[in-house]
Amino acid sequence: MFVTMKEQLKKAEEGKYAVGMFNVMTVEMLQAVIDAAEETRSPVIVGTSEGMAKYIGMRNIEAMVRIAAESTDIPISLHLDHGKDIETIKDAVEVGYSSVMIDGSKHPLEENIAITCEGVAIASSKGVTVEGELGRIVGTEDTVFVTEREKSMTIPDEAERFTNETGVDCLAVSIGNAHGLYKGEPKLDFDRLRAIKSRVNVPLVLHGASGIPDDAVQEAITIGIRKINIATDLQVAFTVRVRAILKDDSKIYDPRKILGPAKEDIKSVVKNKMNLFMSAGKA
Ligand code: 13P
Repeated sequence: MFVTMKEQLKKAEEGKYAVGMFNVMTVEMLQAVIDAAEETRSPVIVGTSEGMAKYIGMRNIEAMVRIAAESTDIPISLHLDHGKDIETIKDAVEVGYSSVMIDGSKHPLEENIAITCEGVAIASSKGVTVEGELGRIVGTEDTVFVTEREKSMTIPDEAERFTNETGVDCLAVSIGNAHGLYKGEPKLDFDRLRAIKSRVNVPLVLHGASGIPDDAVQEAITIGIRKINIATDLQVAFTVRVRAILKDDSKIYDPRKILGPAKEDIKSVVKNKMNLFMSAGKA
């Protein structure tokens, strides 16, 4: 069942759980995510970054996800992650993505509001859900100093203004989370998350969730996170298995024998996340 992300997040809000968005890069990853959702009876959001959408082709990925969604009763959404320019947003909406993220977070607040409003106007007229971002979710390595880390975090008053003025359907927050592999254990600023939650009326999104300890993820859900993004954990599971297979057998050449076991490992990671996010059993 192909559904909008807005619908999924409304149900998550009512049921006090979070829906996982899993970024896929290969057909095996997509199959693993959908199989995991079916096996745990969990709603799911399939994510593609801008780069991935270009790599595999937006039309190709949309067709694959739509066909998969039409042949199951599990709610599935297709999301453009970190759309940085309006042209890409337009393409994703036109192709049939059910949600887009407009990431204007590198801009000062006024500009972020302006670019996000532009994206909302394009997407919401077609019934496409919109995620905005405020505060910068830092890069691929957690090498940022504390002062810099704090500077990059979402300011609750600004979050209230941003959501009111843009009309986004959900908001990605920066509370100490980072994309990619963390150096050391990430520390989420739960007081900040509580303050944001008390001022904002739309579901909140946690990016960079690979590597965040399970108890911190659960605390974030308790406070009000309703969508959780995972990418790196899937890539690591995939690559670790492929590397081991190639190392063990130098004569192997059938890609199915290399990628098939990696798909199973990804499925198991995704199922664990669905249990952790408490979305398992909610479909
Ligand atoms: P990770 O790669 O850290 O899981 O982050 C994923 C993400 O937030 C994509 O937007």
